[in-house]
Amino acid sequence: MLHLDPKDMSVRDAHLLLLGGVAPRPIALVSTVSDDGVVNLSPFSFFNAFGANPPTVAFSPSTRGRDGTRKDTYYNLTATKECVIQAVTYDIVQQISLASTEYPPEVDEFVKSGLTPEASEMVKPPRVKESPFQMECILKEMVSLGEGPGSGNLAICQVVKFHVAEDLFVGGVIDPDHIDLVGRNSANWYTRASGSAMFEVPKPVDRQGIGFDGLPEHIRKSTILTGNNLAQLANSEEIPAAEAIGESIGQLQAARLHETTIEAFHRSERLGDIETMLRIVLARDDMDADERERLSHRTARSALDQGDVWLGWCALLSIRRD
Ligand SMILES: Cc1cc2nc3c(=O)[nH]c(=O)nc-3n(C[C@H](O)[C@H](O)[C@H](O)COP(=O)(O)O)c2cc1C
Repeated sequence: MLHLDPKDMSVRDAHLLLLGGVAPRPIALVSTVSDDGVVNLSPFSFFNAFGANPPTVAFSPSTRGRDGTRKDTYYNLTATKECVIQAVTYDIVQQISLASTEYPPEVDEFVKSGLTPEASEMVKPPRVKESPFQMECILKEMVSLGEGPGSGNLAICQVVKFHVAEDLFVGGVIDPDHIDLVGRNSANWYTRASGSAMFEVPKPVDRQGIGFDGLPEHIRKSTILTGNNLAQLANSEEIPAAEAIGESIGQLQAARLHETTIEAFHRSERLGDIETMLRIVLARDDMDADERERLSHRTARSALDQGDVWLGWCALLSIRRD
C-alpha cells in the first residue's frame, strides 16, 4: 500500500487519486442562467443526493486547477440561486462531453451540444429535453471547501420539482436498464450502468445473519472460498440442519452419474455445472480426505458465485470430517 499525506502532494495528484478511487460517479448535467439571461449547460461528476426530506442534492463547480478562476456555473448559481440538474444517460453522453468544453460565458452550450432546451416550471434555467430525469432546484447554500486552484465549492441544492419519463418505471421504481445512466471514472473512462455491468446482491436477512464468527472453522479458514463467498454463507440465519442437507443430497444422488473422474469434475467446473460437481464429490468417498474437502470447497465456491447459497451449504456440510 502507498500511504499518502495530502499535505505532501500536489493538488493535481490529489485530484487524480480522487478521480480514480471515488468512481464511478453520477453525473449532474446542470443548466443555469446568468443575470443577463445567457444560458449555460455543463456536466459535474462531483455530485450526489444527500436527503429526501426535503430532496437535496449537491455538486461541486470547482475552482479551475489551471489558474484558480471560477466556472460560469458557479457565478450563475450564486447570482440567481436557481439551476436544473438532469441525469446523464448513455444516449447523450457524447453531447454532455461536448457541453463541458470551456466556452466563453456568452456562449450557450445548448446550442454547441445540440441538446434541446425546454421551459422549466419553477425556475428560469431551461431543462434538457433529452434527459429522462430532471430536477428543478434552488440553491440553499454554496460552501467554499478551500482556497486557490482545484478547491471545491459545494453547491447544496433543494429540488422543487422532479420531471421523470413515465416509461422508466417498472414495478413503481426506476428500472436501471430503462434509464441507462452513465457514471464517470478517471481519465476519459465512463461506466454504462445497465445490462451485464449490473448484478444483484440480496439484502441481508431480516433476522440477523450468523456472521463470519458463526461459520464453522473449516469453512471460515477455507483457502478456496472468497470473502464474498463467506459473506453469502454468513448472511444465513442459521447453519442448515443435517436432515435438510441430507434430503437435498439424497435427491442429488438419486440421479444417474456417468463419470466420476477428476477430469469430469474439472469439466463440470468449467461448465458451471455445480450439481454434477457435487455429485462427483459425493461419489468419490475413496478419495484422500483433504483432496475431497478441497473439491467440496471448489464446488461450494462455484455454487456461491452463481448465487446458489443452498447448494454451497450442501457442498460444505455433506462431506464427513473426522
Ligand atoms: C463528465 C464530466 C464531469 C465533470 N465534473 C466536473 C466537476 O465535478 N467539477 C468541475 O468543476 N468540473 C467538472 N467537469 C468540467 C466542467 O464540465 C467544465 O469545466 C465546464 O466547462 C464548466 O463549465 P462552465 O464554466 O460553463 O460552468 C466535468 C466534465 C465532464 C466531461
